[in-house]
Amino acid sequence: MENSKNLITRDRKVTFHASTHLRDYANGELPGRVIVGGKGIYLKDYDGNEFIDGFSGLYCVNIGYGRDEVAEAIYKQAKELAYYHTYVGHSNLPLVELSEKIIAKVGLNMSKVYYGMSGSDANETQIKLVRYYNNILGRKQKKKIIARQRGYHGSSIAAGSLTGLAAFHDHFDLPIDGILHTEAPYYYHRAAEQQGISESEFSRYCAEQLEKMILAQGPETVAAFIGEPVLGTGGIVPPPENYWQEIQKVLDKYDVLLISDEVVCGFGRTGEEFGAHKYGMRPDLITIAKGLTSAYLPLSGVIVGEKVWKVLEQGTGEYGPIGHGWTYSGHPLGAAAALANLEIIEREGLVSNAATTGAYFQKRMQETFADHPLVGNVRGVGLLAALEFSPNKTVCQPFDSSLKVGARVSAAALENKLIARAMPQGDILGFAPPMVVNNGEVEEIISRTLKAVNRVSDELKASGYLG
Ligand SMILES: Cc1ncc(COP(=O)(O)O)c(C=O)c1O
Repeated sequence: MENSKNLITRDRKVTFHASTHLRDYANGELPGRVIVGGKGIYLKDYDGNEFIDGFSGLYCVNIGYGRDEVAEAIYKQAKELAYYHTYVGHSNLPLVELSEKIIAKVGLNMSKVYYGMSGSDANETQIKLVRYYNNILGRKQKKKIIARQRGYHGSSIAAGSLTGLAAFHDHFDLPIDGILHTEAPYYYHRAAEQQGISESEFSRYCAEQLEKMILAQGPETVAAFIGEPVLGTGGIVPPPENYWQEIQKVLDKYDVLLISDEVVCGFGRTGEEFGAHKYGMRPDLITIAKGLTSAYLPLSGVIVGEKVWKVLEQGTGEYGPIGHGWTYSGHPLGAAAALANLEIIEREGLVSNAATTGAYFQKRMQETFADHPLVGNVRGVGLLAALEFSPNKTVCQPFDSSLKVGARVSAAALENKLIARAMPQGDILGFAPPMVVNNGEVEEIISRTLKAVNRVSDELKASGYLG
């Protein structure tokens, strides 16, 4: 058998990796790893190391690895019909069933599902639908979309513009015109500056900031607001109390559509089917991806509410078929994978497991880390959680970024055979284990994390960076 070193050397020469330090990987400074298999929450590399995947890939393998049932559903569909397009009213058997299932699960007066392959392309669709909607209504100026600082909505040109993280804009000439970013609902970061403000006061403050932005731009120019129910890649931050209620009031007042980006939250991650259910949101449009197929195949979707749908119909009545479509929209293999995935989630009660095991996980995270000298904030909901590191226990204070504290804890966890993600902005360690995780596995995640946190904490104490 070829050794992994050779394999990675071959890879370094020819593969352009996503979100990677290109030079360091190409010249061998950044280590590589070849993943070969997995079962449940465990992942195996080419050298036979077995890891707990505490982040479900990129919070997407919700049913866990190695589910033959999904592989068989894909195989069966591939033999019957591997592909036909869905243009001009063509459909396929798994797609009809899948759309019915999604609409029934989401409720919220949703009407139709449009399909893509990734969260980024689904958010591109959202931007086009928002423009089309207002053009049909004769509101030619009402096109701007407000997203949030630290929001994550993808990394293409337009969806990457919705994203509110500098690394996705810098050197790419983003964001594009017409996309703005308002205050992130990041209570832990802002509470200290605002001297004792409560969570619900902070939510009101965020809504006021949004209203100010809408008024400054002119409400006749603002078409939509996009947000993840729980801020994800920007730090895994559940919304402060009443946040969505306060935001919704402002959106209603100025006739601004709400897009709930449920790429992470959708299909159970928060312990409820959708984040919109968890937080009482009333979205007009919903973005889905990841958990729809648990990443067994790429499939995303835009769920369109009745209010927007009526206008889209009116538009095609006036102007003919909508000029929007991908070759792979409604791909039958993706639909078959999604159906098999959703069936597992239902049969095994994984949404309620995300609530109950999630509650146990949150409790154990608090008990273990809230008083740890390296940890400033422990937060989460369902099976999403984060530790934020700070040298100061009482106020939020970042470490010098050159210390790379988050990345070091993540690397130490990896040595303990636990994958926990160093989130891209700040010293934040993220967790989103597969929704099949049980209490015993939670304990294992906690104990491997504690070892890693202790190790970096000891190093920082020894070098005088932590009191
Ligand atoms: C909330 C959210 N929206 C959109 C995306 C983009 O999805 P993709 O990477 O499939 O393009 C992500 C990816 O992490 C996400 O977390």
